[in-house]
Amino acid sequence: MNTQVLQPSRQSIGQACEILKGKGVVAIPTETVYGLFADATDAEACKEIFKAKERPMDNPLIVHISDYEMLSRVAREIPEDAWKLAEAFWPGPLTIILKKNGIIPDAVSAGLDTVGIRMPANPVILEIISKTRLPLAGPSANRSGRPSPTDAQTVYEDMTGRIPLILDGGSCKIGVESTVISLAGDTPVLFRPGYVTAAQIEQVIGKKVELSKGITEELAADEKVLSPGLKHKHYAPKAEVVIVNSDFESFKNLVEKDKAVALCFDEYADRINSPCVCYGSEKDSAAQAERLFHALRELDEIKAEKVYAMMPSTEGVGLAVYNRLLRAAAFRVVNL
Ligand code: TXA
Ligand code: MG
Repeated sequence: MNTQVLQPSRQSIGQACEILKGKGVVAIPTETVYGLFADATDAEACKEIFKAKERPMDNPLIVHISDYEMLSRVAREIPEDAWKLAEAFWPGPLTIILKKNGIIPDAVSAGLDTVGIRMPANPVILEIISKTRLPLAGPSANRSGRPSPTDAQTVYEDMTGRIPLILDGGSCKIGVESTVISLAGDTPVLFRPGYVTAAQIEQVIGKKVELSKGITEELAADEKVLSPGLKHKHYAPKAEVVIVNSDFESFKNLVEKDKAVALCFDEYADRINSPCVCYGSEKDSAAQAERLFHALRELDEIKAEKVYAMMPSTEGVGLAVYNRLLRAAAFRVVNL
């Protein structure tokens, strides 16, 4: 299959809509990361997503909507808290897990009775959802196990020959995937940290949010998880990555002694006598989120084998950064 990469225009958006209506898959930018989209009401179309990504069928897809009418079509028993969160954060980088309606096939929800729903803020994806009137299932547009793509070139690397069209909307502003919160149980549970923080959610709904195990700790292979994504390996570059929690001098000594590559904050690169890949400024978690997946891919490009990463702050958006980095590092952290 020939994979076209086109700038969003009236014509290319029309082409994307036709492919989606014909049960095809298109890569489209969102404000978080690029997604691989298909008609969320059509099991066959969604199976094409799993095929293109080589994604295990037990990991459910997020359904993207453009308005509240669509929300009522895809979910049932929508609690008051969901409306509050939608009002506060949609369109935007928040996925809410709710009980699903019958039009969402099991292929999308991986057989669960729930569905993750998000109204994205990027105008291109929003326009395509409203034009087709189709809720669109969309995981990140990487091959399974690879870092999520935050630009069209990266999508092309992973998806060439697998899908007919990539819309190139430039770099994604946020750079890490949406926050995932479940409102399908008795208490709100955070499954994946993102740009919208647990504290912001607590403020809107006036309730404590439980952090799922698996965000900052490795789950045992036999552990029961409510969100399958928590147990899948993710974001891994080819190199062995270790997170180092230490002061700068100890970090520098370790990197130089082991002739490793440093995955470091921008302000330290000049002071380390080893190859460095930067992932944003030390005090700026949002910049780290935006940079992280690029940086992980860059490690592959320079053929890094051993990587030491500077420990990010875990406050606010920092928790999303730490969570993704921890998975890239297969949960290896050393404290010096
Ligand atoms: O920002 C994003 O969320 C991007 C863009 C494209 O919207 N999408 C994305 O999708 O990151 P994906 O498939 O790569 O990640 C979805 C995560 C997975 O960890 C999955 O296990 C979890 O959400 N998830 C989805 N539906 C769920 C459900 N019904 N119950 C529990 N977890 C769910
Ligand atoms: Mg993903």
